[in-house]
Amino acid sequence: MAMRNARPVDMGSAHVIVTGGSSGIGLATARLLAGRGAKLSLIARGRERLEAAAKELSAAARAADVSDQAGLTRAIAELEEEQGRPCDILITSAGLARPGHFLELPDEVFREMIEVDYFGTLYALRAVVPGMVERGRGSVVAVSSAAGLIGIFGYSAYGPAKFAVRGLMESVRAELTPHGVYVGVVFPPDVDTPQLAEENRWKPAETRAVGGTIKPLTPEQVAAAIVAGIDRRRFVICPDTGTRTLARFGSVLVPLLNREFDRRVSAIRKAAGRA
Ligand SMILES: NC(=O)c1ccc[n+]([C@@H]2O[C@H](COP(=O)([O-])OP(=O)(O)OC[C@H]3O[C@@H](n4cnc5c(N)ncnc54)[C@H](OP(=O)(O)O)[C@@H]3O)[C@@H](O)[C@H]2O)c1
Repeated sequence: MAMRNARPVDMGSAHVIVTGGSSGIGLATARLLAGRGAKLSLIARGRERLEAAAKELSAAARAADVSDQAGLTRAIAELEEEQGRPCDILITSAGLARPGHFLELPDEVFREMIEVDYFGTLYALRAVVPGMVERGRGSVVAVSSAAGLIGIFGYSAYGPAKFAVRGLMESVRAELTPHGVYVGVVFPPDVDTPQLAEENRWKPAETRAVGGTIKPLTPEQVAAAIVAGIDRRRFVICPDTGTRTLARFGSVLVPLLNREFDRRVSAIRKAAGRA
């Protein structure tokens, strides 16, 4: 599924906007791009971490909620004005995950995941893509998740939002490639970030059993995969062998994985007297 584009973006002079650039994967990616000389702009809600990241990376920053289209669009326009350049590369890493049992998750959580993870990605794209198409160049990379490749126990709110991100990027890839706009989508497995720590507070025992003992990646590993993916114009960006295999051979592997995951869920439920 590797896609190559004819017109590479010069990272050295590029204006890169990173949503969720104040923490985790977004921050690690921004750090790597700062090292390559890009003009960086960061977006997140919390001012403290955002200002600290902006200071460290000499980046421009705006506090905005990606699920608020008007606020996000305004923030992006202001950053383009401040940097004196339109957005050349957009990386949408803002997101959140709230695991839980389907029967117990409140309705608002399903809505929040879609609003932040999916609409937060869509709104950012809607703000920058028209200009990229007009200029005949640009790059947009969205962070989905391994939970956007396979339905996982405990992720009935988060998973569909990440599947939606994947669907969006697959659709726009087909539309934007002819306009010279490179499109990529990232499928990280567990990554050692504040989001994972927050998620772990809510994970049902069954979700932990499905995850097994796989060690989380570092945000730096994911950032390196994202930057290499942009350099190579990869559509599917997988930072590890497991998700790469799943992305390539999902239709064959998912039924087999589901059989194994069902076995683990059943074992943990039996052990807890809930079989
Ligand atoms: N960590 C993992 O295991 C993992 C695995 C697969 C995929 N992912 C995905 O990777 C992306 C980055 O996650 P991470 O692990 O790096 O998490 P993180 O360290 O918690 O960073 C999340 C970033 O998104 C920002 N953010 C969250 N909600 C926002 C909103 N409504 N509007 C604007 N900014 C918002 C956060 O800042 P504020 O809270 O201050 O706004 C922060 O900058 C997410 O899309 C996540 O779903 C993570």
